[in-house]
Amino acid sequence: MDALEAIQTRRSIRRYKAQAVPEELITHLLEAAVAAPSAGNQQSWQFLVVDDREILDGLRTASPYAAMLKEAPLAILVCGDLQREKHKGFWVQDCVAATMNILTAARALGLGSCWTALHPAEDRTEAVRRLLNLPSSIIPLNIIALGYPNEEKPQPERLDPERVHRNHW
Ligand SMILES: Cc1cc2nc3c(=O)[nH]c(=O)nc-3n(C[C@H](O)[C@H](O)[C@H](O)COP(=O)(O)O)c2cc1C
Repeated sequence: MDALEAIQTRRSIRRYKAQAVPEELITHLLEAAVAAPSAGNQQSWQFLVVDDREILDGLRTASPYAAMLKEAPLAILVCGDLQREKHKGFWVQDCVAATMNILTAARALGLGSCWTALHPAEDRTEAVRRLLNLPSSIIPLNIIALGYPNEEKPQPERLDPERVHRNHW
């Protein structure tokens, strides 16, 4: 699958097979994440890989919108590291870029994924902070559910010419 196909066919997957994700694929996902651009190349991200069933269940309790972690065998939390910021406030954009690379790489590797939000919902970030003992300088942006998909979704038509502007609004 080429890059364009992976980008255009990615969907949020909420049904997963029990099959574990091989370690080699997890490494590919993390390598894709750190290939992302970042502000001034500050790479203000940290990644927390979770494959422990009890912790996955704890994450599901911490975030009411991460119910798919009941089936997904793997999660990667993309976190901003405030101590690595050279350009204040840009950690979110760095971590979003890394997240998108993980989602695209997952699709290319035959895996399903779903971005579930933490930051800026403070109740969720604090619940995750307590569960995983995160230091105060680490802000969890999201939990990405990952695994072999147990559902297929079509590619929606989203490009609306009325929302594309050229030269002037
Ligand atoms: C910032 C952000 C937060 C999201 N949070 C959640 C979430 O908490 N739970 C969830 O199931 N999906 C979440 N999603 C996935 C969206 O629901 C999904 O991307 C959207 O419905 C479009 O569907 P698609 O990803 O299949 O194209 C989130 C996506 C983004 C970009």
